[in-house]
Amino acid sequence: MKVKLVLVQVKDAEVFFEILRQPEFNRSSFNFKSIQNVIDWIESIDIDLQKVYSIIFNNKVVGMCSIIINKNKKIIGELGFFIDSKYWNKGIASRTVNVLEEIGFSQLELIRIEIKIKLTNKACERVAIKCGYQKEGTMKKALKIKKKYYDCYLYSKTK
Ligand SMILES: CC(C)(COP(=O)(O)OP(=O)(O)OC[C@H]1O[C@@H](n2cnc3c(N)ncnc32)[C@H](O)[C@@H]1OP(=O)(O)O)[C@@H](O)C(=O)NCCC(=O)NCCS
Repeated sequence: MKVKLVLVQVKDAEVFFEILRQPEFNRSSFNFKSIQNVIDWIESIDIDLQKVYSIIFNNKVVGMCSIIINKNKKIIGELGFFIDSKYWNKGIASRTVNVLEEIGFSQLELIRIEIKIKLTNKACERVAIKCGYQKEGTMKKALKIKKKYYDCYLYSKTK
C-alpha cells in the first residue's frame, strides 16, 4: 500500500474543495464555500500545533489528514482524516493512521493519540479498531460539526 503524507500546500486547495463537495461529505466538519476559503484556511494553520498533510496515493492527492496537538498538554494529539470517496475501502485511511501515529509518537514525542468518532461513523470506527485503538467511552456533545455539537466515541492509543 503506497500511501505518502506531505505537508499540506496551497496548490492542493482545489482538490480538497472538490473532494469535500462530494455528496458523501454533506455532514463533514469542514464548510468551505470556495477554493479561496480553503487557501485561507491552509494559510491560517498554526504550524506548531496543527500538523496537516495531503494524503498521496499512486502520486495523486486523495485526501487530507492531521494531528492537532493539545495546546495545554502537548503530549496529546488528536487525529483527523478524510479520503476522496472514489478511493474508499482500499485501506488508505488505515495506512494514513499508521503513518500519522509514527510521526506523532516519534517526531512529535506524543504519549497519547486520540480519535473522536461520531457515533454513526462506522467506517471511521472500523479504521480505529483495525489500527489498534482502544475505545474509552462516549463523550457527550464533544464533536463540533457545522456549528452543532454531537456525542462521539473516544478512541485512543498510548505509547
Ligand atoms: C472514514 C474514512 C476516512 C475511511 O477511509 P477508507 O480509506 O475507506 O478506510 P479503510 O479502507 O482504511 O477502512 C475502511 C473500513 O471500514 C469498513 N466500512 C466502510 N463502510 C462501513 C460501514 N457503513 N459500516 C461498517 N464498516 C464499514 C470497510 O469495510 C473497511 O474495513 P475492512 O478493511 O475491515 O473491510 C472515509 O470513509 C472518509 O473519508 N469518510 C468521511 C470523513 C470521515 O468520516 N473522517 C473520519 C473522521 S473520524
